[in-house]
Amino acid sequence: MIKKAVFPIAGLGTRFLPATKASAKEMLPVVDKPLIQYAVEEAYAAGIRHMIFVTGRTKRSIEDHFDTAYELENELELAGKTALLKVARSIAPEDMICSYVRQPRALGLGHAVLCAKELVGREPFAVLLADDLMVGKPSVMAQMVQQFAEWQASLLAVQDVPREHTNRYGIVSGQSVAPDLVDLSGIVEKPAPEVAPTTLAVAGRYILTPGIFKELENLPRGVGGEIQLTDGIAQLLRREKVFAFRYEGTRYDCGSKLGFLQATVDLAEHHDEVGPEFSEWLAARHKVDAGVPK
Ligand code: UTP
Repeated sequence: MIKKAVFPIAGLGTRFLPATKASAKEMLPVVDKPLIQYAVEEAYAAGIRHMIFVTGRTKRSIEDHFDTAYELENELELAGKTALLKVARSIAPEDMICSYVRQPRALGLGHAVLCAKELVGREPFAVLLADDLMVGKPSVMAQMVQQFAEWQASLLAVQDVPREHTNRYGIVSGQSVAPDLVDLSGIVEKPAPEVAPTTLAVAGRYILTPGIFKELENLPRGVGGEIQLTDGIAQLLRREKVFAFRYEGTRYDCGSKLGFLQATVDLAEHHDEVGPEFSEWLAARHKVDAGVPK
């Protein structure tokens, strides 16, 4: 029912400089897989087959990543490395379509989503921010698609955050209609802790109705001089129902160094190939640290 997903990947990634000066933040690998691939796999697991990337400068490697690498595949085939060949081929399954549209300037997340308007057309669609790495079973987007089937309205993934962090997120307010669902009455971008209406923060997963495009087209610039998706959703709310959904799973803010490191350690500990050895090394290291006088 949700057939298309939009991946806005045209941000500048300044928090990760110098790594992001000439290459894409979304290509940073957590263990052995780039952030963007985790997000694409999450959408695929939710039944979505058309992936729309809103790209900018420095993002060409992402197009290459989801393209067929004949030379590499040929080399792996000749060398009889069938397991690695399978890994290379699984990045872009045959039934997956990738489209690319350019955001000429990084004018904000709302503007990036608007750039996908023609490719999305008049149907509900998903938005995934790859720098929020989500680990959930079923995948967080699959949980959202299931909710959408029931409510047929826009949905935002939310989680509770410490009050001192409200100024990092879009914060929602509304009426609980089920243990995991809030009927939205308001949304505000990055409020200071003293004025934040709640501590319920939007994580980087959305299902939006096409009505959002009209709202985004008419928006003035918001916080930070950017066209904010949050402001577009606040406008949409005046015309349509929007729900906030408390997903089950863990979110890693891989747009920040700390979140990226946390994801790396957690996912490395659970990795098929290096997990047991890495955990052992980590435990031994803690023991050594504990023995060092401060
Ligand atoms: P961020 O707020 O993380 O911005 O964007 P950023 O530029 O990527 O990173 P910093 O803050 O400078 O370190 C959230 C998401 O929106 C996309 C980003 O690529 C990221 O996935 N985005 C943001 C765009 O595609 N275009 C924009 O103009 C802004």
